[in-house]
Amino acid sequence: MAVFLGIETSCDETALALISDRNCLDHRVYSQDHTQSGGVIPQVAAREHLKCLAPMANALFHNVGLTPKDLSGIGVTAGPGLIGGLLVGILFAKGLALACRVPLWPVHHLEAHGLMVRFEHEVDFPYLLLLLSGGHCILSICHGVGRYVVLGQTYDDAAGECLDKVARALGGPYPGGRYIEDLARNGNPGAVALPVPLQKEKSFHFSFSGLKTACLQWIQSQNNMDLNQKSDLCASLQKVIAQSLCQRLELALRHTGLKRVVLSGGVAANGFFRQQLDLLCQRFEATLHSPTPVHCTDNGLMIAWAAQESMAAQIPPDLFFCARAHWSLDAKMKVL
Ligand code: KG4
Ligand code: ZN
Repeated sequence: MAVFLGIETSCDETALALISDRNCLDHRVYSQDHTQSGGVIPQVAAREHLKCLAPMANALFHNVGLTPKDLSGIGVTAGPGLIGGLLVGILFAKGLALACRVPLWPVHHLEAHGLMVRFEHEVDFPYLLLLLSGGHCILSICHGVGRYVVLGQTYDDAAGECLDKVARALGGPYPGGRYIEDLARNGNPGAVALPVPLQKEKSFHFSFSGLKTACLQWIQSQNNMDLNQKSDLCASLQKVIAQSLCQRLELALRHTGLKRVVLSGGVAANGFFRQQLDLLCQRFEATLHSPTPVHCTDNGLMIAWAAQESMAAQIPPDLFFCARAHWSLDAKMKVL
């Protein structure tokens, strides 16, 4: 049995998983609490990873009755992300790999999101990949492991960032995407007039900062918002984000002629976006694939799976890589 360990510490989730082929042996996610700060403070996040990574790994191995010496490979997020957290995960993984003589693969966090769907379903390359995470919004063609052509990305904020900032202004938690989705269910999507980003621009790029500002200004203009008003804003915001995503995806479907689309990253957990993008794909006789919602947000499974995919694609393991705060998806996967 080939067992892979995945380690994720790029932002505010400490996540670990053990997988064997397409089976999850066990996985754990510890989400940091930002109620007080209202957002992630990088050095605080890194210290939290440092505190819980080793005990979580111990518990994981103990629970499945294995030791690190039983591993066939380790994957660790090498970027993009917050440098302090990345270093905690990378140093831990390198130590384990060296001590137990296990091959180690540096994993691109966004690539891991994009490959996760193949852990659950048979999805062949190539496919159009729409990656929607807290900090990124990227439309690309995935030709294989480590082989991407980026068509477009956001000029400013990611959709996730826009949702998080609006949720915060509404008094919601961080991250706020799920809160917006829950409120939007009872709202009227036509109630608040919001600008559709880059509506006239025929490109694959995105922009969500103007939309975010429009929402924040609308919130400021209201006196003592009640739940109905909040719900209306959330439903209207979701409608406009979905419109923008669909416009870009439609262009990419026409441009590439591809019939497989993968939607992934934390924002892909949103049922409304999944439904709207699915309807669009059906119009083009294309199929939309997405990980189950709980596997869309950061987790260790996707990192373990990316390592397993790297081995299957004969990408050599590596012990001499650095953390990368910024790492383009179409950059060469070799980390210097
Ligand atoms: O991929 P992810 O877990 O972390 C990053 O790599 O950034 O994505 C986090 C983002 C946050 O912006 C969060 O608000 C959003 O995913 N998110 C959602 C939902 N669940 C998480 N956005 C919309 N609807 C959701 N249900
Ligand atoms: Zn992520």
